[in-house]
Amino acid sequence: MSHPRKRLVMGNWKMHGSLQDNAALLGALLSGAVRGGDTELAVCVPFPYLSQTQALLSGSPVSWGAQDVSIHERGAYTGETSAAMLADFGCSWVLCGHSERRAMHAESSSLVAAKASSALACGLSPVVCVGETLPERDAGNAERVIGDQLDPVLALGAGALGRMVIAYEPVWAIGTGRTATPDQAQAVHAFIRAALSRRGAGQTRILYGGSVKAANAAALFAQPDIDGALVGGASLVADEFLKIAAA
Ligand code: 13P
Repeated sequence: MSHPRKRLVMGNWKMHGSLQDNAALLGALLSGAVRGGDTELAVCVPFPYLSQTQALLSGSPVSWGAQDVSIHERGAYTGETSAAMLADFGCSWVLCGHSERRAMHAESSSLVAAKASSALACGLSPVVCVGETLPERDAGNAERVIGDQLDPVLALGAGALGRMVIAYEPVWAIGTGRTATPDQAQAVHAFIRAALSRRGAGQTRILYGGSVKAANAAALFAQPDIDGALVGGASLVADEFLKIAAA
C-alpha cells in the first residue's frame, strides 16, 4: 500500500542533552540518515542547543526545531523565546502544546493555537500536540477532549493547517512503556483526519507519540492515518531512533 503523505519521524529530546552527548547523538544520526529516503527525520532540542544543532545538521537531510515558542513577537517577557529567534537558528519545527506543557504550565488550547500562529508567521511549521488522559479515555471522552483541543487550531483555517503537523500523544502512553495499540491509535487518527478534512486540510500529517520504539513502530506506521511518530525516550538513542525511521 503506498502512503499518500511523506512519513515524518521526529525526536522530542525534552530536557535531555549536553554539548558532549548531543555531538555524539547528532553525529550518529547524520551517519545513519538517508538522503532522499522516503522518511523525513527531525529533532526538537532544548533552546540552548539550537546553535549546536544548526551547526551540525545544516545541509544534512535531518531538520530541527524547538519544543515551545512564545505568542509574543518581542518585549518584556522574561524567559520567553520568540518564533523569529527560532527562525534565526534555522528551525523548521516547533512543538506546540505538548501534554507536559499543558499539564505543568497550564497551557490552554487557545494559547496553543496562538503559539502555532506565531510560529507560522515566522515560517516555522508548528507540531500541535493533542491527547487524552487515562481517566478521560476510560470515561469515553477521548474524542471530545481531543476535539476541544483541536477546535482553536482548526479555526486557523486550511492554509495554516496545511503548513502544520498534528501529533496525537495519549498522555497515558507517554514515557510509560504502554503504547496505544495500532487500532486504538488509528481510530483517533481517523477522527483527527476527518476534522482536518472538514476544514479542507485532509493531507496534514498526523504523527503518533507515546512509547514508540523500533519494536512497535512498523505496526503503527502500517495504519492508514498514521504518518509518522513523535518520539521521546527512544530519540535519545541514535540506533533506536534510526530503526524507528527505517520501520
Ligand atoms: P516517549 O516516547 O518517551 O513516551 O515520549 C513521547 C513524547 O512525549 C514525545 O513528545
